[in-house]
Amino acid sequence: MTKRVAILISGGGSNMVSLVDSMTGDHPARPCLVLANSAGAGGLAKAEARGIPTAVVDHRPYKGDRQAFEAELARVIDATEPDILCLAGFMRVLTEGFVSRYRGRMLNIHPSLLPKYRGLHTHARALEAGDPDHGCTVHEVTPELDEGPILGQARVPVLAGDTPDTLAARVLVEEHKLYPTVLRRFAAGDRTPVFLP
Ligand code: GRF
Repeated sequence: MTKRVAILISGGGSNMVSLVDSMTGDHPARPCLVLANSAGAGGLAKAEARGIPTAVVDHRPYKGDRQAFEAELARVIDATEPDILCLAGFMRVLTEGFVSRYRGRMLNIHPSLLPKYRGLHTHARALEAGDPDHGCTVHEVTPELDEGPILGQARVPVLAGDTPDTLAARVLVEEHKLYPTVLRRFAAGDRTPVFLP
């Protein structure tokens, strides 16, 4: 049975595009929704250009009332009956209640080799630490931020002269390979972690 995938974004949605464009042919999943927490998210137009249903649930009217925001988020998401949720550059922290609702079927991509560098500014932190390499991780989402079971990682070398921006760009190229690879396995019921290269 083809799995239905809802993808949550906040910005340009390059990871969303990679995921959507990977779900073709004998892939066990298809996108059913791209949802953004802002009408200004550039990824919405990319999803619409691909014929994917889109929605916006703006967090700002809820003025910090996370429960109310997440109740609307869940209502819109559940109306499309997804089997899997993919957070792809979604920049809102989700409460335990929301995460528990989708536990075991919600994925996220984080731009570091977890468990290193949970949270923000991961590329700058890796450079400051003088790490020889860096990368990205796809993990199942659990209530603890960036802590869930790892489903895949992609590693890149840190090069002399790297800035946070040049390192982020190199990692992003790998994100676009890793996330679709993990999603295809996950949708087929395979949770064996993937390590690239
Ligand atoms: C990516 O670096 C991803 O790792 C992080 O958000 C960034 C935005 O990616 N979660 P996208 O172009 O919006 O998919």
